[in-house]
Amino acid sequence: MTEKYFLLQDEAAGESIRLSVRESVQGPPAIDVSRLYRDSGIFTYDPGFMSTASCESRITYINGEAGVLEYRGYPIEQLAAQADFIEVAYLLLYGELPNAEQLQRFDHLITYHTMLNETLKNFFSGFHYDAHPMAIMVGVVGSLSAFYHDSLDIDNPRHREISAHRLIAKMPTIAAASYKHNIGEPIVYPRNDLSYCGNLLRMMYATPCEEYQPDPVAERALNLLFILHADHEQNASTSTVRLAGSSQANPFACIAAGIASLWGPAHGGANEAVLNMLTEIGDVANIDKYIAKAKDKNDTFRLMGFGHRVYKNYDPRAGILREMCLEVLEKLADSNNPMFELALKLEEIALSDEYFVERKLYPNVDFYSGIIYRALGIPNNMFTVMFAIGRTVGWVAHWMEMMSDPLQNIGRPRQIYKGAPRRDYVPLDKR
Ligand code: SDX
Repeated sequence: MTEKYFLLQDEAAGESIRLSVRESVQGPPAIDVSRLYRDSGIFTYDPGFMSTASCESRITYINGEAGVLEYRGYPIEQLAAQADFIEVAYLLLYGELPNAEQLQRFDHLITYHTMLNETLKNFFSGFHYDAHPMAIMVGVVGSLSAFYHDSLDIDNPRHREISAHRLIAKMPTIAAASYKHNIGEPIVYPRNDLSYCGNLLRMMYATPCEEYQPDPVAERALNLLFILHADHEQNASTSTVRLAGSSQANPFACIAAGIASLWGPAHGGANEAVLNMLTEIGDVANIDKYIAKAKDKNDTFRLMGFGHRVYKNYDPRAGILREMCLEVLEKLADSNNPMFELALKLEEIALSDEYFVERKLYPNVDFYSGIIYRALGIPNNMFTVMFAIGRTVGWVAHWMEMMSDPLQNIGRPRQIYKGAPRRDYVPLDKR
């Protein structure tokens, strides 16, 4: 196939540069500008990386215009309807769906890494009781980098794999312990006879005084939520993990950096912000007032759970979650849940408003997820923690993909300098 390239024309100098094109399996190709500065002394400028491919990846494909999301080529709708979260974790890590023996072995591996080093318990008591669970997650996950000296040679694929398994396995245990710290109850240890999701529910809701039997509907709901949140290409937190990892940093520290980035309300923190927003709106009668605030350029208020950098169509995950809301609310909570009714009405009004239609602002994954978490009895400040549990699989999959690339190099963006020109120091008595 003939090589495709672009010509970059410097009209003033009467010169042009040939830039080759890197083809994709599906989705847009990319103009390779990696040597542009070396060959021509000029940078490209793309704050927020609206038009920048930071890497090549085989893990997840998104078509924002068509509302398509695929993990290793499998449509999210099929995985959501038929797969188990641990099965999807294996797919994202290794690139293929596991057979029964591979799945059983992987599930056993993850299960037997769910316990925490006992001294880690002391970290939780160091936080004030009302510390945000995401603050605890950042701290405790980062501290794992001080524990596992037996798997720290990140040039060793086996060490990288063990770190990935430990992170996937321990996130629910750390999440549940963060929740227990918030409510002043003792930490509950994982059990090896429960599923990944069942273990999390039990670690959150069992107490020394009363056993807890995970509700299968709740277990299924969490399984679906974790599948939907598992990966999403080069989003802010995954790009944070890749950039941190590109310096050969400790994998646990890199995932802590990803958790920090996810926490922002423009990213994974939006699910908590949606419930806070719906609570503030309170009643259908107030929707028009808040839609007007969202459209008002002088008002910082945004419709949380709406809009997406990539999806200019309905986020496929939001559609799946809206359907699941109905099932979970019917079986676990009051089916005429006022919060859900309000969300449906808000979506209906927004999607008929020119401002949102023109800007292609649709509900995203965070718009409905909080309603389901709440129906499962999970408090608002734990919603982004739930997101982090699912997304840990994507973070470690991208970290492993990057670290196994022999051409992998430290990420080091440049800038356009707009500061003061060179000037001489002025002694204090002359200022
Ligand atoms: C996630 O990247 C990922 O893949 C993320 C994620 C994942 O799985 O990892 O999908 C998870 O983070 C989902 C997004 C969750 N965030 C929110 O719901 C917060 C609310 N949404 C926005 O802040 C915003 O939509 C972003 C941050 C999500 C996307 O911002 P963009 O792509 O930079 O879009 P923009 O800010 O340039 O907005 C374009 C226009 C602007 O108006 P104009 O300047 O053109 O007049 O749309 C407006 C914005 O003001 N706009 C909104 C809006 N989102 C965008 N106006 C009101 N309410 C909103 N929610």
